[in-house]
Amino acid sequence: MGSRIGVIGTGYVGLTTGACLAHLGHQVVCADVVPERIERLSRADVPILEAGLDELVAEGLRSGQLRFVLGAEGAVADAEFVYLCVQTPQGADGSADLTFIQTAAAEIGPLLESEAIVINKSTVPVGSTRVVEQALGRADVSVVSNPEFLREGSAVHDFLHPDRVVIGADDQGAAIRVAGLYLGLAAPLQVTDPASAETIKYASNAFLATKISYVNAIAAVCEAVGADVNDVVLGMGYDKRIGEAFLRPGPGWGGSCFGKDIRALGRIAEEAGYDFDLLKGVINVNEEQFERVAEKVVRRAGGDVEGVTVAVWGLTFKARTDDLRDSPSLEIVRRLRARGARVQAYDPAVPRSSEDDRLTGIELFDDPYAACAGASVLAVLTEWDEFKWLDFDKVGEAMASPRVVDARNLLDRAALVRRGFELEGIGRA
Ligand code: UGA
Repeated sequence: MGSRIGVIGTGYVGLTTGACLAHLGHQVVCADVVPERIERLSRADVPILEAGLDELVAEGLRSGQLRFVLGAEGAVADAEFVYLCVQTPQGADGSADLTFIQTAAAEIGPLLESEAIVINKSTVPVGSTRVVEQALGRADVSVVSNPEFLREGSAVHDFLHPDRVVIGADDQGAAIRVAGLYLGLAAPLQVTDPASAETIKYASNAFLATKISYVNAIAAVCEAVGADVNDVVLGMGYDKRIGEAFLRPGPGWGGSCFGKDIRALGRIAEEAGYDFDLLKGVINVNEEQFERVAEKVVRRAGGDVEGVTVAVWGLTFKARTDDLRDSPSLEIVRRLRARGARVQAYDPAVPRSSEDDRLTGIELFDDPYAACAGASVLAVLTEWDEFKWLDFDKVGEAMASPRVVDARNLLDRAALVRRGFELEGIGRA
């Protein structure tokens, strides 16, 4: 018998959480304040690209386990558990802005059932469980921290097959009740205090970003000494203490989480009197990486891109998502355009008709070959699988000169060289 659950916020985290909990057999009502979003979701029209999510939303709506409502009230009334999944954007000083979460908590406080449990999934600074408790103003309601570790693009998989479930609670009874919601999952369960749970989230994201900046720095060394970073990572990854995951060199890390969370962790440390210098290095390496990739393109174009057409494949911050937030690709495109390049871009998740402001000044194409027409260099910036299988003879014919900067080390170098391409990757000759 499932539990009655309300979910506040239908962004990536809220929607995935709601749909997966319904799939696990719970009775879930998801609320949002945007009428159009609720209207679309209610007819199983999922507004984000997320593998498996369409199916789960449709399944939940069909079975009646999942519903969408406008405004928190309809999700909270009657709920034994209420998940807070609202955004915590970066404030002006780098710290996380808690306005949304405080507003949501203040709104639902008077509406909650007695003895309900509020579960916070938003990424919040250490100590925010207390902030939520205060905003709720309910002595009978426990607040539990339950951070999410969902990667966009594989969020459904990550929810249903987690490496761990972390529950931060002062009240052991509440922790046990929340643990019961995840009984269907085969994962280690860690019960800890709220401050530790909140720290686990920040420490994990910052560590992952550190791994990527580390490998990008190693890639720079590889280029200088004539080593191949792919082989270096393979050799490092065999060591179980290191592991090969999250050591793919690339154009730098991006997305809506890493930059925000690493800066928030830096602020938390600073406020606690600790200068977390390592994190500053991680951010610097990342910003240098954008520049290093832009430089590669400029060099391949002969040292100047003023008036030069550059083709770009991949605009999203990584493959299998349509999310453009903090995309390294857009950062690199911005740098190329600032030097006078004309950018023609193709991304399987970004249609030509897209009116997103972040794409202003980029000529969009619905066809990867058309995006290459007359281009002096092609920059591959997102690791969409389909790029590997394109017809490179056709690409070469379309381009003014067959030169590629492969910022994801995605393409088959030997095959391209055979076809007469000049190819430059990351961290390899
Ligand atoms: C990240 C974390 O991986 C999730 O565990 C976490 O829950 C989520 O943030 C969050 O805080 O909500 P996400 O931002 O969706 O997930 O994307 P990742 O798959 O982590 O990739 C982040 C960036 O790192 C992307 O730009 C990606 O291209 C880059 N990356 C990743 C690399 O350059 N190399 C790698 O080896 C891995």
